[in-house]
Amino acid sequence: MNHYSELSQEADLYLSPLLAADAFSRLDESDDGEFYAKDRFIEHLDAQALSTVERIIGRLVVEEAPVILDLMAGWDSHLPPELHPAEVVGLGLNPNELTKNLALTRTVIHDLNRDQNLPFPDETFDVVINTVSVDYLTRPVEVFREVGRVLKPGGLFLVIFSNRMFPQKAVKVWREAGEEERVLLVEDFFRDSGIFEKPKVFASKGLPRPQDDKYAGLGLPSDPVYAVYADKLGGDPSRKPRPELKLNYGQTLTLEELAERKRAVKQTLACPYCGKKMRKWAVPDNPFVQTWDNEHMYICFNDACDYYVRGWAVMHKEGNSGRSYRLMYNPDKDCCLPVPVPTPHALKEGICD
Ligand SMILES: C[S@@+](CC[C@H](N)C(=O)[O-])C[C@H]1O[C@@H](n2cnc3c(N)ncnc32)[C@H](O)[C@@H]1O
Repeated sequence: MNHYSELSQEADLYLSPLLAADAFSRLDESDDGEFYAKDRFIEHLDAQALSTVERIIGRLVVEEAPVILDLMAGWDSHLPPELHPAEVVGLGLNPNELTKNLALTRTVIHDLNRDQNLPFPDETFDVVINTVSVDYLTRPVEVFREVGRVLKPGGLFLVIFSNRMFPQKAVKVWREAGEEERVLLVEDFFRDSGIFEKPKVFASKGLPRPQDDKYAGLGLPSDPVYAVYADKLGGDPSRKPRPELKLNYGQTLTLEELAERKRAVKQTLACPYCGKKMRKWAVPDNPFVQTWDNEHMYICFNDACDYYVRGWAVMHKEGNSGRSYRLMYNPDKDCCLPVPVPTPHALKEGICD
């Protein structure tokens, strides 16, 4: 079946040369269940990109206690800690990975390339998330249509991907397409399923790769992150729209947003850049270096935090190569400030919580 009989004009222009009859064939047509029987407790993206994935999910999932389907799940669902879902169902192919996935409340083994029907009743989920896996679907439009069926009206389908893949299992059109064309392709899956609002797109590219990443020495930037997402048609029109994704650097906050951020830091002691809890840190008792009066500070020691990851490049530009900074919260003065660090381990000896 040709999914592209009603290609949008834009997609038609760019994609039709790629959409040969064998567009959804794979180099390895063996059973997917066998390929994924091997446990892969690996990170599919670098830590910077994974932090972006978490932030995308955290921004877009606005439902209180949502029921979530992680479609094509592995051992990590990338849900941010501040999200408190009522239920998270993980559907995938590797039982060990799904069992190890702490976010999941239920696991389902199901091969979407054998059977596109999802084993759930209509309108079960508030949110369906598919991370770095859409490239393996041989009948994506049927799967997107099924996602629409199992979502509640107005529910979110969020498809996130990068440029890394298992090439032998990715469909031909994905392998041959450029990154922008892949975005068009996923937009087209949404459109052709006929059950979603117009999809929106977010891209995060060119961020620095964390220094401790195994590919850091190759001069590669962080893995790009693309998100294509849309609500199922028929949602409540009076509902507040989902926030626009504005994760790019250079973002300016309004005064109210700044005040809100400040209040949240004081109440939760979570880093405003990555959402992870800051660690209590004992100010060293050294009269030569001590510049603060209080005994304790709170510091974000998350090595994937944007603030810290970006800090290496910012410091380099300012002539302080080989240094970054971490976000420090001074509880006595109720203010945040950067504290320079020469290595990822620096200051960690002072953690005292
Ligand atoms: C690259 S991993 C991504 C895992 C997870 N979504 C993540 O973000 O870490 C691809 C996942 O897709 C799942 N998968 C691949 N082919 C599938 C199929 N035919 N049906 C269902 N799941 C599939 C595999 O089980 C695997 O966990």
